[in-house]
Amino acid sequence: MNVLLTSLEHKWSFTWRQPWIPAVTASKVQLCTHPPKPVIPSKKPFKVELIGGKRYSWCTCGYSKKQPFCDGSHKTKAQGLSPLRFVPEKDATVWLCGCKYTNNPPYCDGTHKQDFIVSAPLHEPTDS
Ligand code: FES
Repeated sequence: MNVLLTSLEHKWSFTWRQPWIPAVTASKVQLCTHPPKPVIPSKKPFKVELIGGKRYSWCTCGYSKKQPFCDGSHKTKAQGLSPLRFVPEKDATVWLCGCKYTNNPPYCDGTHKQDFIVSAPLHEPTDS
């Protein structure tokens, strides 16, 4: 088959395109493989008392109304982002990141003090 296609390509100079994309719009299609960026629900961390052995889901998209935990909003508002699930070994009071840009998720690492967070808009939750 490949030999046949190669032979035909040379003879008639085929232009291959995906058949489900009309030629008129094909040049306007942009594919993005990057996950969406989270919105910033808080510019401060959340002080939380965790229970050892309990499973938690930390919101990574910022759209959850149950911050800092996931309420499933990523499924409709930030497809490509998933909550970070974790189980603390023992009871502990911790600071969970509220800005969603920590480099040590789910814990605050002080990133919220950087200019790109301080100057960024705060996400206001909506009812939809
Ligand atoms: S709240 Fe995100 S790093 Fe502190």
